[in-house]
Amino acid sequence: MEKILWILLVFMIIQLQNAASQDSLAYAGWRIDCGGDVPLVDPNMTVWDIDEDFTQSGINKRTLDQQPLDEMNTLRVFPDRTDQNCYAFPTTMFLQKTLRYVIRAGFSYGNYDGLSNPPTFDLHLNGGKWSTVNTTPKSGPIYHEIVYSTQESAILTVCLVQTRDGEVPFISTLEFTPLPDVLYPHLNPNVSFTLVSRTNLGGGEIRYAGLFTDEFYNRIWTRGVTPLNCIQVTTLQDSNVLGVENDPPVPVLEESIVSNTSDPINLTFELPTTTPQSAHFVFYFTELANRPMLNDTRIIDININGQMMQTVETEVNKCKVVTLYPVVVSGPTINITVAANKSSTLPPIIAAMEVFTKNDLEPIQKNTNANAQEHLSVSHFVLISVLCLLVSFIA
Ligand SMILES: *[C@@H]1O[C@H](CO)[C@@H](O)[C@H](O)[C@H]1NC(C)=O
Ligand SMILES: *[C@@H]1O[C@H](CO)[C@@H](O)[C@H](O)[C@H]1NC(C)=O
Ligand SMILES: *[C@@H]1O[C@H](CO)[C@@H](O)[C@H](O)[C@H]1NC(C)=O
Ligand SMILES: *[C@@H]1O[C@H](CO)[C@@H](O)[C@H](O)[C@H]1NC(C)=O
Ligand SMILES: *[C@@H]1O[C@H](CO)[C@@H](O)[C@H](O)[C@H]1NC(C)=O
Ligand SMILES: *[C@@H]1O[C@H](CO)[C@@H](O)[C@H](O)[C@H]1NC(C)=O
Ligand SMILES: *[C@@H]1O[C@H](CO)[C@@H](O)[C@H](O)[C@H]1NC(C)=O
Repeated sequence: MEKILWILLVFMIIQLQNAASQDSLAYAGWRIDCGGDVPLVDPNMTVWDIDEDFTQSGINKRTLDQQPLDEMNTLRVFPDRTDQNCYAFPTTMFLQKTLRYVIRAGFSYGNYDGLSNPPTFDLHLNGGKWSTVNTTPKSGPIYHEIVYSTQESAILTVCLVQTRDGEVPFISTLEFTPLPDVLYPHLNPNVSFTLVSRTNLGGGEIRYAGLFTDEFYNRIWTRGVTPLNCIQVTTLQDSNVLGVENDPPVPVLEESIVSNTSDPINLTFELPTTTPQSAHFVFYFTELANRPMLNDTRIIDININGQMMQTVETEVNKCKVVTLYPVVVSGPTINITVAANKSSTLPPIIAAMEVFTKNDLEPIQKNTNANAQEHLSVSHFVLISVLCLLVSFIA
């Protein structure tokens, strides 16, 4: 009986969220806890839907090693190589007119099979290869995130493809978040972009936290490594924070790293492939509340792989956003230096950085069939009827 009440509570929260999703809450997006038997409500009241309406294959499993995030403790595994191993999502479910989406797939192996053998496999989106997922143990879940444009009534497919004998693909979460047109205005909507890095320098991880969120667009700002010659400092956000390009969350802007010497800040990141590719960089700069002297200046040169790209001057109580694209880079390691310009009296500072690379996946250009949509509305109808029956049963 307790379980039934729990299901009803979750159902009511989902209904409330759907009702509210016409306005600002909508940007919280839509989350799926793959392999779960019942919808999940995490400690901050974020709802994770179950996945069984959207796939015909795979089996539900639980991790043996407990994961800190509840949604990472269930997974769907796809042992049958001959199956399609796909999810199909009608975009009409997304409730938004916006056509750009951030799609994020999450993977936590958690030794679910007791074999301590995390697999490598491929992830496909609408028939094209999205990425290779390597789940070799690392602390925390592995995410693959893409900015993707679609049509208002289309079917999005996400498939898990086995590429190595005996290595069984799985998936733990799927998230779809509409990306408002005002965000990342330089990312061409006719092209797909893979997120390579989104780093909060000087602070901890910031992510969507339901009722208590500072991050409204479901982005994950990972904790950046502070280089040895740098210290963490508290900076001022922009007083006009709503006007800052890409609307970064306030805690990200309130913490930065600053060079403790006159040396530059060196940052590196890894690209999964070594072929030259077109990258898109976004840098965020804020300033100390108590900048030493009014006549001081902090003028920063941004270099990528030793090439000087742009100069920016920080201002107290203002966030400066520098977007650089397209920058052709080759893996595996990209070197970024944030250096004091000759004319600067203060050492360099930086609050956050994002890197995207252009992906070969074609965005959806035309409508596809509507069968999955019918299947979905029917199954939701069944779900609602069952819940009504349960309610009358309890009463
Ligand atoms: C995207 O494609 C549409 C239709 O082909 C075109 O009108 C538009 O200019 C393109 N946008 C960009 C930024 O290239
Ligand atoms: C819940 O919110 C708090 C405060 O923002 C945050 O620290 C925590 O990580 C969130 N938990 C989850 C599961 O999102
Ligand atoms: C910063 O520089 C000062 C003076 O050179 C030094 O004493 C201090 O240990 C440095 N701190 C870090 C974290 O490098
Ligand atoms: C940062 O990179 C520059 C150029 O590659 C190098 O000369 C310098 O020694 C590096 N600084 C640190 C602190 O690693
Ligand atoms: C800034 O002004 C102070 C006193 O007002 C002076 O001592 C200092 O040399 C000046 N610094 C620069 C870089 O001009
Ligand atoms: C990045 O820096 C490392 C160490 O300084 C160097 O070995 C490597 O060649 C640099 N890569 C590029 C693309 O400049
Ligand atoms: C310093 O700033 C000036 C003016 O913005 C710029 O022309 C120059 O390239 C920058 N870099 C260096 C190393 O002087």
